[in-house]
Amino acid sequence: MAATGLLLGLILVLGCFSEIGVALISFSSLQATLVVTASHPQRLLRAGEDKITVRWGLNQSLPAGTDSAYKTIKVQLCYAPISQVDRAWRKTEDHLSKDKTCQFKIVKRPYTTGNQTLEWTIERDVPTATYFVRAYALDANDHEVAYGQNTDAKKTTNLFEIQAISGRHVSLDIASVCFSVFSIVSLMGFFFVEKRKGRKAQQ
Ligand SMILES: *[C@@H]1O[C@H](CO)[C@@H](O)[C@H](O)[C@H]1NC(C)=O
Ligand SMILES: *[C@@H]1O[C@H](CO)[C@@H](O)[C@H](O)[C@H]1NC(C)=O
Repeated sequence: MAATGLLLGLILVLGCFSEIGVALISFSSLQATLVVTASHPQRLLRAGEDKITVRWGLNQSLPAGTDSAYKTIKVQLCYAPISQVDRAWRKTEDHLSKDKTCQFKIVKRPYTTGNQTLEWTIERDVPTATYFVRAYALDANDHEVAYGQNTDAKKTTNLFEIQAISGRHVSLDIASVCFSVFSIVSLMGFFFVEKRKGRKAQQ
């Protein structure tokens, strides 16, 4: 009994420590050393169909060795401020463990010097919103140490809009319901006219 209590206490304490460890990384402490670009068709993009070509690499004007601690690159799709308004579940927090800006993984792969390119098909579960792309450089402990994004610090440039699949289905459903109602109504109208014609013919 006492042993179980002790074990539970230990787990709790460890849990708290790891929580603190994670919470310590703040976005504002990261250096913007990566140059990230995203190219795509210049129109409303469709989830599940359209592709975004993401390019990332170390800013070449930085001193050599800037990236010596970089082990992994994590590229994510992130909500632009306009799509975060009144949505606590997409809120930006400086503590990265609580930050909900970037919820969609594009890729995670080992860091290599030089530019990297990836063609990514927008996943089918991406909701309708305005987005940008951000890349994080992670160290050997999988902790964020630097970042780069395809937009400016205020997140106002190079944003793009994605339309969700469900949104398209909803409008399709509405269209098909309208069509069904329309065809039933016209069928009824047709019958009515035919009946009247028939009655008139009998008279
Ligand atoms: C690259 O770094 C230099 C020096 O810090 C900076 O002036 C420049 O704006 C950066 N370039 C990009 C594309 O971020
Ligand atoms: C990476 O791309 C940038 C432009 O996006 C270019 O200026 C730079 O020279 C490239 N670096 C390498 C190593 O190819």
